[in-house]
Amino acid sequence: MKPGHTLIKHYLQFKDFRAEEYAYLFERAAIIKRRFKNYEKYTPLSDRTLAMIFEKASTRTRVSFEAGMYQMGGSVVHLTTGDSQLGRAEPVEDSARVISRMVDLVMIRTYEQAKLESFAAYSRVPVINGLTNEFHPCQILADVFTYIEHRGSIQGKTVAWVGDGNNMANTWLQAAEVLGFKVHVSTPNGYEIDPQLAGIQDRSCYQTFRDPMDACRGADLVTTDVWTSMGFEAENEARQKAFADWCVDADMMAAAKPGALFMHCLPAHRGEEVTAEVIDGPQSVVWDEAENRMHVQKALMEYLLLGRIG
Ligand code: CP
Ligand code: NVA
Repeated sequence: MKPGHTLIKHYLQFKDFRAEEYAYLFERAAIIKRRFKNYEKYTPLSDRTLAMIFEKASTRTRVSFEAGMYQMGGSVVHLTTGDSQLGRAEPVEDSARVISRMVDLVMIRTYEQAKLESFAAYSRVPVINGLTNEFHPCQILADVFTYIEHRGSIQGKTVAWVGDGNNMANTWLQAAEVLGFKVHVSTPNGYEIDPQLAGIQDRSCYQTFRDPMDACRGADLVTTDVWTSMGFEAENEARQKAFADWCVDADMMAAAKPGALFMHCLPAHRGEEVTAEVIDGPQSVVWDEAENRMHVQKALMEYLLLGRIG
């Protein structure tokens, strides 16, 4: 039987929080970001420890959580499959029971969402999804925050998703459902979104388009991701062929609303899912998006560990 630490708040998928919790988090992220830019010390997590478990590669997720935790006065423990017993088949439930007795918070990047859920079920402390095959909620948290910074509320707006029906696409759909906007999705045949896997109830939060140009028409934000996500490398050759027409270029950006933003969670492959002209062009906010990972995650860690401030 699972121990079921039911009172603990985890962040395993975007729909784990309600719209008003997001409003609070975005407000806190803006305050925390402003303090950081002004070199104001803010260390509410002194003596708190974050364990970060990576079963897949990372640059942004590791640096943003690690730097963010140190800036808030805490410390981090970094584990990978290769240098821990996780890689030698210690059950995830046992790992969760042990690790969560020694730290205050756990972030995990892994393959199946089910593994993350099992860890959370046996954890005594909050668990954060740092990317699974199915979802990437911390990234969409940063993306929506970035949209708000540049354009104001995302409610009622249209986001065009061009490319794979992957973890990022699923999470955009959950965000659309929770925050009240619409996603125009265009994926190649065979790489469609599965609404059940995406975990959405209301299918009116998205609309599918065969042609990526049509998905971009009238969009407030155009976004894409790599053709081959981590864990799917064996499919790379087939994907290179299937995705050839799903490259965000200047024509797609011109079909979107004037002043539409371009986002990409990164890492990017210029010339594949996006042209250099678009990602390095004036509508692209990818560097703000990457930086904002740290600010929103600091707000998230503060919320999970300390609750609402003030
Ligand atoms: N966007 C993102 O999660 O980047 P990393 O894979 O570098 O962490
Ligand atoms: N969809 C990509 C996102 C990388 C941050 C992947 O899962 O590899």
